[in-house]
Amino acid sequence: MLIRKPEAIRPSEITPESVYLRRREWLRRAGLASAGLALSPLAVAQRRSDQGQTPLLKDVQPATQRPGRAPNSWEDITTYNNFYEFGTGKSDPARHSGDFSPAPWNVRVGGACAKPGDYALEDLVSPHRLQERIYRLRCVEAWSMVIPWVGIPLRELLLRFEPESSARFVRFRTVMRPEEMPGQRRGILDWPYEEGLTVEEAMHPLTLMAVGVYGRELPNQNGAPLRLVVPWKYGFKSIKSIDTIEFTRRRPATSWNLSAPREYGFYANVNPDVDHPRWSQASERPIGAGLFAGRIPTQPFNGYADEVAGLYTGLDLRRNY
Ligand code: MTE
Repeated sequence: MLIRKPEAIRPSEITPESVYLRRREWLRRAGLASAGLALSPLAVAQRRSDQGQTPLLKDVQPATQRPGRAPNSWEDITTYNNFYEFGTGKSDPARHSGDFSPAPWNVRVGGACAKPGDYALEDLVSPHRLQERIYRLRCVEAWSMVIPWVGIPLRELLLRFEPESSARFVRFRTVMRPEEMPGQRRGILDWPYEEGLTVEEAMHPLTLMAVGVYGRELPNQNGAPLRLVVPWKYGFKSIKSIDTIEFTRRRPATSWNLSAPREYGFYANVNPDVDHPRWSQASERPIGAGLFAGRIPTQPFNGYADEVAGLYTGLDLRRNY
């Protein structure tokens, strides 16, 4: 498969806390201390793998950019989830996704492009060099994490299908498998989960199609085997377990917008100045910071304004939330 199975490594081996605490010793052993190089969690893990401790995939390009905060632990990232196909509680996805089978996996690509078709996951991923991207994730519910994803810039993937100039949006759909996804047997949402981006958003260099986290394949609860990551938008845009990609001329309907249009818009850009009708979006609660750590201010576009604000020039972001 693409990258190593999560079970292959004990979570305790890669929690960033321990990595960061031992970083100095680490740099010394790796002979990098004098060079003053900052290592990403992936680079640390790979280096340890070279020492025969933590075998990880070798050909992932380590992250070059880091958010201000340290990445969350593997435990945080894989036990505190939103994936309503497996239930609405934060621990439900980890507890109820054991029967979900992410392999074999095919993605149907269609709509306004020259190369539609059914693609096996391996064929989608193997031509690309995987990249690590350490991104902030801000959920619309006002909690947040920092996650070291592994994936492919969505732009690189989409260009292979040769989108037509008439394509203005990209629609994504989560697989429909009520027999493996207990939440889909309940009417929580109008299944399957669907999301969409403008073509400009989909082609933005920050937009990632993730296949892994912490250098390992995505666990089921995080959207195995393929999920979107759009770091400047609320987390619900980052749709999981994608089996359909379609280039469209009209704006696609999206699950949360259909379910509660007053509360969840199509754009869903992180915006501390536009409150959710039922709570403030001005601040957020970092997961894993400890019970009494308190909240931190939420940043416009989740801190990625310099990169993405230009996509929305002339758009009233209060009305187009
Ligand atoms: N994708 C699907 N198919 N179903 C979901 O319920 N939840 C979304 C998003 N993608 C969701 C989904 C929400 S609300 C968030 S915050 C993120 O996934 C959470 O991603 P994580 O659990 O990997 O942190």
